[in-house]
Amino acid sequence: MREINGATRILGLLGDPVEHTGSPAIHNFIAERMGDDIIYVPFRVRSKHLEEAVAGAYALNVLGLNVTVPHKVGVMQHVTELDDAALDIGAVNTLVRVRGGFKGYNTDFSGFMRELDSVDIQVNGKDVIVLGAGGAAKAVMYALKKLGAGNIYILNRNVEKAGASFGNIKNAKVLGFSSWNEIPKGKYVGIQCTSVGLAPNDAECVINDDGFFDLIDEAVDLIYKPKETVFMKRVKERGGRVYNGLRMLMYQAVSSYEFFTGREVPEEIVEELYRELDT
Ligand code: ATR
Repeated sequence: MREINGATRILGLLGDPVEHTGSPAIHNFIAERMGDDIIYVPFRVRSKHLEEAVAGAYALNVLGLNVTVPHKVGVMQHVTELDDAALDIGAVNTLVRVRGGFKGYNTDFSGFMRELDSVDIQVNGKDVIVLGAGGAAKAVMYALKKLGAGNIYILNRNVEKAGASFGNIKNAKVLGFSSWNEIPKGKYVGIQCTSVGLAPNDAECVINDDGFFDLIDEAVDLIYKPKETVFMKRVKERGGRVYNGLRMLMYQAVSSYEFFTGREVPEEIVEELYRELDT
């Protein structure tokens, strides 16, 4: 059994709710395999207490924190430094202890990039269809820009909201779901970033027209429960290569852990972790 002693360092998650989070299991697994005297615990924090929670964590010598719903935007006001990518995306999911406070990072975008890399989906110069325009889509769009994607079509229920977030990107076009047939014929990488299709609503997908799925030959659905969403099934039926969001979840945690400790997590541990998560 793990011994907790005076030298044990603490990592945690700030969110509300946090009861169903998988982050402690992932981080504690990595810490154990890395041989680090670190434990990771969930902290349920109400929005009105967020500032105190961050200051309190610093006072308690907490090494680092992850941040999840609903605090990823609000926490940006309580950091002493902010990484450029997090500023650009407009959300922080990782707080790393620095002098006088915490520095905010975003590892959702890097987790997504590491997933694309590990499944060998190359978006450089490729045209992409993004479904959704929420927080997850923002991290994805940042990664797509960094990776040099070609034309990007963003489809969202609320077109105005998507336009406000992405309307000024020169290689991006925002459309409603019903206007998917305005996308020129071709083969696209499809990234499903809405929450539609998430268990228990497994039978749902934001678009159901067969013709739409003919446009996609490689796809990632950021959902990982169920393991195969309707979106994934339909792309697969037409011969496409599909992946769920489990690797992104895993890699955002691995990237956070690397920021917390300043050390790289070796590939063998990442692979072992993936097998554990995929059971
Ligand atoms: P996340 O952090 O997971 O991205 P979010 O910021 O709440 O969560 O974004 C959820 C995404 O799923 C949005 O694109 C949202 O569409 P709107 O921007 O129109 O709200 C989309 N979404 C959620 N429920 C939906 C539904 N029933 N039909 C279509 N889109 C939906």
